[in-house]
Amino acid sequence: WPVSSTWADGQLRIAGLGVRELAAEYGTPLYILDEADFRARCTAYVDAFPDGDVHYGGKAFLAPAVVGWLAELGLCLDVCSGGELAVARVGGMPPERVVFHGNNKSSAEIRQAVAWGVGCIVLDSLHELERVTAAGEDLGTRQKVMVRVKPGIDAATHAALATGGERTKFGLSMASGDAAEAVRRVLAEPHLELVGLHSHIGSQIFDLESFGLAARRMVAFLRTIEREHRVTIGHLDLGGGLGFRYLPGDPPAPTPAELAEVLRAAVPGDIRLAVEPGRSIAGRTTVALYEVGTVKEHFVAVDGGMSDNPRPATYGAVYTAALASRESDAEPRRMTVVGKHCESGDILIEDVDLPGDIAPGDLIAIPCSGAYQRASASNYNLVTRPPVVAVGESGARVIVRRETEEDLLRLYPETRA
Ligand code: LLP
Repeated sequence: WPVSSTWADGQLRIAGLGVRELAAEYGTPLYILDEADFRARCTAYVDAFPDGDVHYGGKAFLAPAVVGWLAELGLCLDVCSGGELAVARVGGMPPERVVFHGNNKSSAEIRQAVAWGVGCIVLDSLHELERVTAAGEDLGTRQKVMVRVKPGIDAATHAALATGGERTKFGLSMASGDAAEAVRRVLAEPHLELVGLHSHIGSQIFDLESFGLAARRMVAFLRTIEREHRVTIGHLDLGGGLGFRYLPGDPPAPTPAELAEVLRAAVPGDIRLAVEPGRSIAGRTTVALYEVGTVKEHFVAVDGGMSDNPRPATYGAVYTAALASRESDAEPRRMTVVGKHCESGDILIEDVDLPGDIAPGDLIAIPCSGAYQRASASNYNLVTRPPVVAVGESGARVIVRRETEEDLLRLYPETRA
């Protein structure tokens, strides 16, 4: 649960605000984000890397308000699309603190990034190197770039989240010589300036030794390049991916300070370190709130589902939940929380103990809903996407508004309202 959660007068409260009142005001499904918690997790990373840079992984969850907090707290921002770039801009992030990622950035996105003056573009292929060069030529700029390298590490995580092995689509292979070739071309290209190397071995990784191993390989590669080309590459960005505990029974997650210790042991002090945490900042800050609509056999059906949280269906992600709107003395029953979508795989939680008297109108809260949920929500079944409300000392404010059916109908050019 977010740091400022309490249970009082029978309901869950975050920053003192009760879920019953929040649901009445903003409707359900609803994401409730604890702003103080988000800020504290940002600060913990900044404190853990005093001589380095913390690039928040915007893909976990981004909104202009979040960009404002990051800018204020001294973080940088990792974006991976023209859309995230646009939110970074309207949210007030200084462009030099933005790093642009992605394995297939379009020419238009690259132009947009170069024209805005982003601090760095992470090159993921030789084609991209040409596109960034072309944008630099057209706009008369020298763009700072990093080269994304595959360190050849198969970290223990879900296959869809592993990105450090040789078979991943991301980056250029150290083993095949592609990464060295990209570096050679960047160094020879006057419109590009090589400022560092990048790797990201995957997401939801608990084994700190995987990060240490990646760091050592990247340092060795960086030193080889420095020797061969007689240059100094002062910067190593080792990506995000620190594991995060979704369930009370999960192993404890390493802290940012523990990650920093392992990385610092592997990376000499003359190399500036950067990390890109997403989930370990945003994950715990947010609760998803749903209203129960139907209880049938062991099924508790809520008013959202796989459109606002595709993670259980996509990665077999496991969550817990609690009745959040009232107290109950009823015996717990093992239930399955399902959504309202037209398929059997629309399960939010397979087995969870909820009070046996759970009934329509009750509110269910799912903690640890801050990362890759609202960010990967879809309009499946033409369901509208939920809002995000940030709560804190000064009350509640909508930072992403609820989508409406009018928003959806606007997509069809031939439709009259
Ligand atoms: N940097 C890069 C280059 C990345 O690709 C990612 C995540 C991160 C940083 C942040 O990783 P984090 O600290 O959040 O683990 N949708 C999946 C997760 C996909 C992760 C994509 N890349 C999920 O819901 O688990």
